[in-house]
Amino acid sequence: MKEVTWKSPSNIALVKYWGKYPVQIPANPSISFTLSAAATTTTLKYAPGTGQIEVYLEGVSTPSFLPKIKTFLERTAEQFPFASTLDLEIHTSNSFPHSSGIASSASGMSALALCLMSVKQALGLPVSDFFQEASEAARLGSGSGSRSVFGPLAAWGTHQDIQGSHDRWAVAYDDVAEVFTTFQDTILLVDKGEKVVSSTVGHGLMEGHAYAEARFAQAHTNQADILTCMRNGDIEGFGAIVESEALTLHAMMMSSRPYFILMKPNTLKVIEAIWAFRENTGNPLYFTLDAGANVHLLYPKSHKDVILQFIDSDLRTFCKDGSYLCDEVGQGPKQL
Ligand code: PMV
Repeated sequence: MKEVTWKSPSNIALVKYWGKYPVQIPANPSISFTLSAAATTTTLKYAPGTGQIEVYLEGVSTPSFLPKIKTFLERTAEQFPFASTLDLEIHTSNSFPHSSGIASSASGMSALALCLMSVKQALGLPVSDFFQEASEAARLGSGSGSRSVFGPLAAWGTHQDIQGSHDRWAVAYDDVAEVFTTFQDTILLVDKGEKVVSSTVGHGLMEGHAYAEARFAQAHTNQADILTCMRNGDIEGFGAIVESEALTLHAMMMSSRPYFILMKPNTLKVIEAIWAFRENTGNPLYFTLDAGANVHLLYPKSHKDVILQFIDSDLRTFCKDGSYLCDEVGQGPKQL
């Protein structure tokens, strides 16, 4: 068998994607920091065949991944028509623990899409824009995965202020003050359990949601405003938008029908401690949340020492087994 390998990072949204139209078209634009340490490495082995697929996670055969991969290959059949004429072996591993509650779908689908693009190239099929096509394919596996293809930031969804922005793929974004190209993201593992509600179900609940239209309009405004803040190096303005976006995301969950809550009591304790710390010390420490209970702490690299001290002394106690992961803005995927 021949093989290709890509390592693709996870990403953390600053303006959140929540709500979509078929197939994987975002209801509003979003923008994210591409991460550095949290990543999926995937080796795709291929040989002429009949579309047989085997998947291995950390070296162990994992047939439970097959339905998602088959759906992905069906959706991308136009881009990767050769997939059904090959036998594929997918070997994937994550840099973060499987039980950490960190979603691997964005980095995983991005790594797989990049591998398939490399196979496409190796087979001599026409490729006009490698990374744009990879982002479009990744989107069909995991919406937020479209953003993992680019660093240091990536924007997905048509937005008036981002040239070339598109609903079908993400674009790289770097028109930001230097401080934002080295921002830190320390992920507090408040709860490591499986999500009680999948993001697919959550997106679906935005259909007919009482606040949907207002939320989608707000995301456009927040996207415009956060770009201005990041261009001007306005960390305080940036932080206010990011925290509001995180709380709005969870407010949408709490006000959907059926309603649900993904935050845990310790999520709120961390948020309160961050606000008190900021008030008392003036340090630029902000938070964001994914569709889960874990808290992402965002801050400039220049404040790393004082903030890591604060995490150890005051926040670690709210983490499962005292565990957290240190990450920072990264440059995007790498072929290995
Ligand atoms: O890409 P999905 O379908 O897993 O949805 C991701 C949704 C959020 O992580 C909550 C927000 C985002 O923009 O990444």
